[in-house]
Amino acid sequence: MSASDNKGLGYITSTLATPVTSAEAALRPLSFADFTGQPKTVERLQVMVGAAKRRGDPLNHILLSGPPGLGKTTLSFILGHEMGRNVRVTSGPVIEKASDLAGLLTSLEEGDLLFIDEIHRISKTVEEYLYSAMEDFRLDIMIDQGPNARSVRLSIPRFTLIGATTRAGLLTAPLRSRFTLQTRLDYYDIPTLIGIVTRSCGLLNVAIDAGGAKEIATRSRGTPRIANNLINFCRDYAQERAKGKITQPTAAAALELLEIDAAGLDEMDKRVLRIMAENYKGGPVGLGTIAIAVGEETETLEEVHEPFLIQEGYLMRTPQGRMLTAKGYHAIGLKASLGGNQGSLL
Ligand SMILES: Nc1ncnc2c1ncn2[C@@H]1O[C@H](COP(=O)(O)OP(=O)(O)O)[C@@H](O)[C@H]1O
Ligand SMILES: [Mg+2]
Repeated sequence: MSASDNKGLGYITSTLATPVTSAEAALRPLSFADFTGQPKTVERLQVMVGAAKRRGDPLNHILLSGPPGLGKTTLSFILGHEMGRNVRVTSGPVIEKASDLAGLLTSLEEGDLLFIDEIHRISKTVEEYLYSAMEDFRLDIMIDQGPNARSVRLSIPRFTLIGATTRAGLLTAPLRSRFTLQTRLDYYDIPTLIGIVTRSCGLLNVAIDAGGAKEIATRSRGTPRIANNLINFCRDYAQERAKGKITQPTAAAALELLEIDAAGLDEMDKRVLRIMAENYKGGPVGLGTIAIAVGEETETLEEVHEPFLIQEGYLMRTPQGRMLTAKGYHAIGLKASLGGNQGSLL
């Protein structure tokens, strides 16, 4: 079972937010044993899978949240694999009408998993139909209009909804509360990422040493998807500019070429920090304003860039807006001056 097996209405092979390349699919862990990191989430999922299998019940509904590239899609396929069930893949914006949802749900078999990526982008109407589907495994669909309008009740097989979202906060309370487990994925630490880089290089037959793996892991913004992408570029770089092996200096040089700094900050991260320091005296400044100034979507900043910058202490979120920290100034070669929040050259 892979994402590309899904055909027909509402099934997609990739989503806007997380395009799946064949290289990515090849590196995707298939079982819990293969999946490193996220110990709390993994343990919660293992408990649920173990119990469901022992009772012979379908898995309860699960919501996976967290920034892109941390393993939400991977985990949902692992859940399908561990349960020995099919995973149907779709995404919030693709399910436009109640009939799309009905088509999807009635084609499932008992115990199947329905994976809805970007579930926060599901339409209000579809969301309301989802409530009874999740709770009572039925759908009351209105057919026809005017005097002929009537409601038809469809029974659907007991299925498991796996929702994934980069923005759990945008889910309505009624939808969120219908998930038995809501679990959030965190950025990976460097030792875990070193393991992931080493595993990927093994699968791809890429020559790398410990220094090279550490360098890539350090510059991956805590994100396995980024680590895998950087491996590909470092491999090309090693082939063209070095002797084919990814060593620490080779990886460092390759990633400098991509303008990814030693802490993993990319060009957009730095632009955000620089704009805040130079145009807004370090803040507080609203995210929408920053987005316009750097020419990026507010959503992307909020889902992709800001969580990492906040977690690593470059930015702070305050009721008045975002503020640059001393570490944020330092990252762009400025230092926060005493008493004020205006940066000066180091
Ligand atoms: N814990 C992990 N161990 C190994 N590889 C991982 C792990 N988490 C994610 N990956 C890799 O990162 C890529 C992106 O993961 P994915 O599940 O698509 O992220 P998300 O759905 O959260 O955006 C996958 O191809 C997978 O190979
Ligand atoms: Mg995904």
